This record gives sequence, structure tokens and C-alpha cells, in this order.
Amino acid sequence: MTTLLGATHPLEQTVNLAELEALGRAALDQNALEYYASGANDEVTLRENREGFRRLKLRPRMLVDVSDVETRTTLLGLPVQMPIAIAPSAFHGLAHADAELGTARGAARMGTVMTLSTFSNTPIEAVAAQATAGFWFQLYLYRQREISAEVVQRAEAAGARALVLTVDAPFLGRREPNERNRFALPPHLGVPNAGTRQELAGVETESGSQLVNYFQGLVDKTVTWNDLAWLRGVTSLPIVLKGILTAEDAELAAQHGCHIWVSNHGGRQLDTAISAVEALPEVVDAVAGRSEVYLDGGVTRGTDVLKALALGAQGVFLGRAALWGLAAGGEAGVARTLDLLNEELRLAMALCGKVTVGELGRDLIRN
Ligand code: GLV
Repeated sequence: MTTLLGATHPLEQTVNLAELEALGRAALDQNALEYYASGANDEVTLRENREGFRRLKLRPRMLVDVSDVETRTTLLGLPVQMPIAIAPSAFHGLAHADAELGTARGAARMGTVMTLSTFSNTPIEAVAAQATAGFWFQLYLYRQREISAEVVQRAEAAGARALVLTVDAPFLGRREPNERNRFALPPHLGVPNAGTRQELAGVETESGSQLVNYFQGLVDKTVTWNDLAWLRGVTSLPIVLKGILTAEDAELAAQHGCHIWVSNHGGRQLDTAISAVEALPEVVDAVAGRSEVYLDGGVTRGTDVLKALALGAQGVFLGRAALWGLAAGGEAGVARTLDLLNEELRLAMALCGKVTVGELGRDLIRN
């Protein structure tokens, strides 16, 4: 068990991610909490991401030697200690003074990958130096392509192992608390990777979420499958398309030589979109082993990780869960989140009669 702080610290007393979430929430002001917590519109998809996992029932096998369960795996060939990594999310400086450096150190301590958001409060190079178990870089394609090319080249030079292109956000979904209370980035937080020509902290408009106003001006809404050739032209890194929810798009992604990240953006984009885990099987079937498939959305239990892997995901990624950990205790909170979840996975595997992640298959899930 990771013990960065004294045994009496509340972090060390948490026994599950729900308790870490409560600690994290309590540490945030309203502006930050609403930004992280909210989903689009009625938040149906936000809730469904968790419910989708709960509805799936397991078919455990008995009388297997489970004295030595191993959760190690690989992500795009990179060895990691667990099939759990960090999803990109914006503005970790809202959660903790260490911002993305805390997240990177927490992931590195637990031996897994961090995906850094374009909209981070910390420069790519500084995060890369701390993400010693590997980092991926998340990308939006900007209308000013030279800004995107520059940021891709910086990520590649800093040692990123993959580019994660978010494909589900030509426009940002409407997170109503952020509109109502005019979500804004506090002036002390910069956005050093989003193009030196723009500063979100300086955006001031009459109404609504300041992020939406900033984002709408920056991101290219004309992007199609044809634009992947442009991206291929500026990088030699593997490309992961984040936000795929259908077999049709999975087929196109595989044809374009991309890996696939099943996600509905944490329920923050199209409300009533299918839950991530419910979309996973058709994507895995369509891809038929041509690309790796990952998932984010609603993962809060080791059994959730187990189910995603059983359905064909190579790994799962944590968005909000990592942010709650970061808010609860910086690096130690992120490490605690990963550790608790991995230990839950290990126990769930043992109770299912499985000793390696390679043994997890669809026979584990009741039809
Ligand atoms: C940005 O991607 C967001 O979900 O706020």
C-alpha cells in the first residue's frame, strides 16, 4: 500500500474511490467542483456510465490456483503495472497546487501512463519529466493548424508515446451549472500548451461558461476522417481516437490505422449517448484485433476494470476519479486512487478464477 503521508491522514483511511471522491469534492470550491462534476444537460449519460457497469453480471470460475494474481499489462507495447491509466482532463490546477505535476507523479509512482490534456495548466515538458512510467498527449485540432503542429512536435520531443485525438467535441456539450455560474479559470492559472497566442485566463465575455467561449474560437469544427492524413504528416506517433462509440466509426478508425478509445467524454458531450461499457463490445467486434481498444467513463470499482477487460479493452482510463484523488491529496491522492482500484481488480480476478489479464474474456460476462 502506498504510504506517502502519515497513517492518520484521511487519505490513508479511505477504503474505496467513493471515499476519495468525497474527500476530493470537499477540497474544491464551487467553480472547480462544478467544472469537474457536471455532465451535459440532464446528465443521463453521466449516470449511465456507472449503471452500465453495474448491470453487467459476472460468471466466476472456481477451484483455480489464484495464489499469485498479476495485473501487469502493456499499453501500445509499453509495460505498465496495471491496466488502469489516467485519462486527459483539463486544468488540474483547479484541483491542487501541484496541478498536472501531482497527477504525473502519482501515475509514475504506481507505474502507469498519464494522458496529458492540451488544456493543462503545466507545460508539456515539465509534466513529461515527472511521468516516468510514460505519457500520452491529448489533442484537439485547432483552426490554426500551425498551433496544433507546434504542440504535437513539443509532445513528441518530450517523449509522448501516443497522440490522443479527441473526436467527440467539435463543440463543447452544455454543462448547465457551468453556464449558469459562468465557469472561469482563475487568473493565476495559465494554459501553456493551448497556443501561445491565446490565454484562457484572459477571456472575458458577457455570459456563459468562459471555457465554452474560448474553446469555440479555437477548435476546428470542420475536421473529418480526411484530416487524419494531416496529423500523420506531422507526427510518427501512434494515433488514438478518443470518443468512438459505434462499430461504424471503429471500422473507419481501424482502416485509418488508429487505435480506439471508447468514451462519451464522461457524459459531458451528447447527453443520452450510450454508456461507454455498453458501446465497448460492438467496437471490439468491429476492430477484430486490428487496433488496441481502451475505455473511459464510470470506472470506480475493480470489477468495472475487470468487465471492461473481459469485453476486450486493453486498458481503462480514469478521468474524474483521478481528479478527486488529486484534489484529496495531490500525488499521494492520485497514487491512492490507482492503488485501491488495482487492488480491487486483483481481488476480483482472484474471485473469478483468473490470474492474468490475458485470461479475461467474454465468458466472464453473463449475456
Ligand atoms: C473539455 O474537454 C471538457 O470536457 O471540459
